[in-house]
Amino acid sequence: MLWICGELVGVEDQGTHRGWPEGAAIIGAGTMGLGVAECLAAAGIAVRLTDATPELTREAKARLVDRARGHAAARLLADEAIGRVEAVETADDVVGAVGDVDLVFEAVPEDIGLKEEILGSCSGAALQDTIIVSNTSSLPIEGLSEFVEDPGRFCGMHWFNPPEWTPGVEVIPAAATEGEVVERVVAFLRSIGKRPAVVGDGPGFVANRIQNALFLEAVRCVEEGLASPQEVDEVVRSCFGFRLPFFGPFQISDMAGLDVYENVLDVLRDGLGERFEAPESLRRLVEQGRLGTKSGAGFLTYTDEERQRLLLERDRRYAALNELLKDLPPIGAGSEDGP
Ligand SMILES: NC(=O)c1ccc[n+]([C@@H]2O[C@H](COP(=O)([O-])OP(=O)(O)OC[C@H]3O[C@@H](n4cnc5c(N)ncnc54)[C@H](O)[C@@H]3O)[C@@H](O)[C@H]2O)c1
Repeated sequence: MLWICGELVGVEDQGTHRGWPEGAAIIGAGTMGLGVAECLAAAGIAVRLTDATPELTREAKARLVDRARGHAAARLLADEAIGRVEAVETADDVVGAVGDVDLVFEAVPEDIGLKEEILGSCSGAALQDTIIVSNTSSLPIEGLSEFVEDPGRFCGMHWFNPPEWTPGVEVIPAAATEGEVVERVVAFLRSIGKRPAVVGDGPGFVANRIQNALFLEAVRCVEEGLASPQEVDEVVRSCFGFRLPFFGPFQISDMAGLDVYENVLDVLRDGLGERFEAPESLRRLVEQGRLGTKSGAGFLTYTDEERQRLLLERDRRYAALNELLKDLPPIGAGSEDGP
């Protein structure tokens, strides 16, 4: 992205991708499939799309080109990328889509029967060394791997909406997934500017589990009359949420002090119940004097130099984010109609 005086004035062309995969098939050209298709095509990967029927596929391709043009007009996508998006091919069905590609990205609706059918057809028709991934948000990857012929080449690759801009992608191996497949998928995602994390196959993986824990507490705050939805959203985005583009809960708690966290959790547990009991691992670290950055170690360890750099980086990035947020409108009253 190119910025002048805080204004976005354009983007650099990202079509520099070389190596694996040269070609990818997107199965299911809806919200996620189209976003991923734009992202891969913009990066320089040959993309082929298919949806439930040839007509839906043709409509999806037209939508894909329209939105890429819209993104270019808004200076979010380099003009040079439009041609590559226009060159995205379509296929009438799964078999026609996957025959010669290196990567198959399954993004059909979250229906286990449909995933079984699609993953079965993909793996039957694809070349033997084609890697097949599912974008499922919630279905266990282990179960899905059973629908794939040669499941060593299958894993979860969970993107977030909107996929063109959200950097994080969860990569979820099944028991059978070959290590080389995980390495290849991770290296590829990094090569197109994403920030993959390899996570386990628990319910909701990591992101949806944490996001939903936050959501449930937010709804409870409203139901208990502590704050309106607008006020909760303001608190989340402007208080601790302000840190989240840069730091996760472990670095944040290390910077705050784990002894402080333990004390606060004890108060929350007394007032709100056992779900706020401080975890054993936190209590052990506090007992050992590992209190976070101030003691040189907490959940993570820090040399003096790293600690100073972290705090300086934090302040620099927070100041830059404040600048970006200065025109952020207040949370609208339009969302007042709640349950
Ligand atoms: N929407 C999100 O925010 C989001 C985020 C992360 C992951 N996901 C996951 O991604 C997957 C797709 O979600 P989505 O939101 O893009 O859904 P969507 O409904 O927008 O798109 C699904 C597409 O699959 C097509 N489809 C249906 N049957 C098909 C078939 N037999 N063959 C080929 N295509 C078929 C549909 O016509 C549709 O275009 C789901 O597993 C979902 O859980 C969604």
